[in-house]
Amino acid sequence: MNKFLFGRLWLSPMEGVSDLGFRTICNDSGASLTFTEMIRASSLVQGNKATLSLVDTFTHSPPTGIQLLVNKKEILQKALAMIREGIETKDGRFSNLSVIDLNFGCPSPEIIQIGQGPAMLKRITRMKELLTVLRKESPLPCGIKIRLGLNDREKKEKIYLRILEIANDLGLDYLTVHPKTAADSSLAPIDWKALEEIISHAKIPIMGNGFVVDGPSARKMLDAGCKAVMIARASVGNPHIFSEIETFLTTGRKIAPANPSDYQAAWKRYSSIATRYGTNKKYYEYHQKMFELRMKGDQGYHSPLRILKWV
Ligand SMILES: Cc1cc2nc3c(=O)[nH]c(=O)nc-3n(C[C@H](O)[C@H](O)[C@H](O)COP(=O)(O)O)c2cc1C
Repeated sequence: MNKFLFGRLWLSPMEGVSDLGFRTICNDSGASLTFTEMIRASSLVQGNKATLSLVDTFTHSPPTGIQLLVNKKEILQKALAMIREGIETKDGRFSNLSVIDLNFGCPSPEIIQIGQGPAMLKRITRMKELLTVLRKESPLPCGIKIRLGLNDREKKEKIYLRILEIANDLGLDYLTVHPKTAADSSLAPIDWKALEEIISHAKIPIMGNGFVVDGPSARKMLDAGCKAVMIARASVGNPHIFSEIETFLTTGRKIAPANPSDYQAAWKRYSSIATRYGTNKKYYEYHQKMFELRMKGDQGYHSPLRILKWV
């Protein structure tokens, strides 16, 4: 059996999506680990208020990993020290965190231009320094989320195996791979061969990400040897995806997909949490729109989300 400390159904970090309310309703439905959206470590350590508000774990947070975007070891050191201090002083935001994750997957040109995210993958020495700091100074279990490279050339050079080697040697707690390059389109399929290659060389748990949309697609990734699957687009407006998948994994049965009253109930629970914790209205409005689309029978995964340039 594929058992991993943090369960096998993870909610992906999603910018503009993964607020406390959304993470909570996904956890209610069976997501075993959730993540904050990516947080720029340099703004965090400067105490930027908007950035700090993204660490919205409060007291009754579901299991949550904080995802950091960082490319300098000095900044990572400061961010880890800040999290450690928050844990020691029982600061409700930091003391409820379960995991620290570094993002090397974001394909946004704005991020790549400044040498962050997947632009770091080929900088093996810098990556080694950064990940050594992560391993040595993280107060929590820690891992990374990667793509196969910036582009096909880097993928052909298999830089992902060099990153895996570093992660293996350091004994990171996991490595999540979205097996595509940063240049691939959001609808391009994932590269199963590369995923299997990573799994076969791994000495640490590998989490698979990309196009997990139902029980069979989750089963396929777990059967390939992933310890967990990380789900993004299929969960937006549809937290039930987690219970749907868990039922399939445990019983082999497909249950009826969520119906309008399920969406209505999930939206009600989301909005009560968002209101209670004063969630920024941009998240509230986004989720409202996504639930409304689902209620109208629009399978957001195939239509409105397709235009999101992120993936
Ligand atoms: C709206 C949106 C925001 C995202 N933000 C992040 C992010 O902050 N950090 C990250 O690592 N990936 C981010 N991603 C990528 C997803 O985590 C995931 O890797 C990608 O969507 C593939 O998974 P899927 O096929 O299940 O959607 C985002 C994706 C979407 C759709």
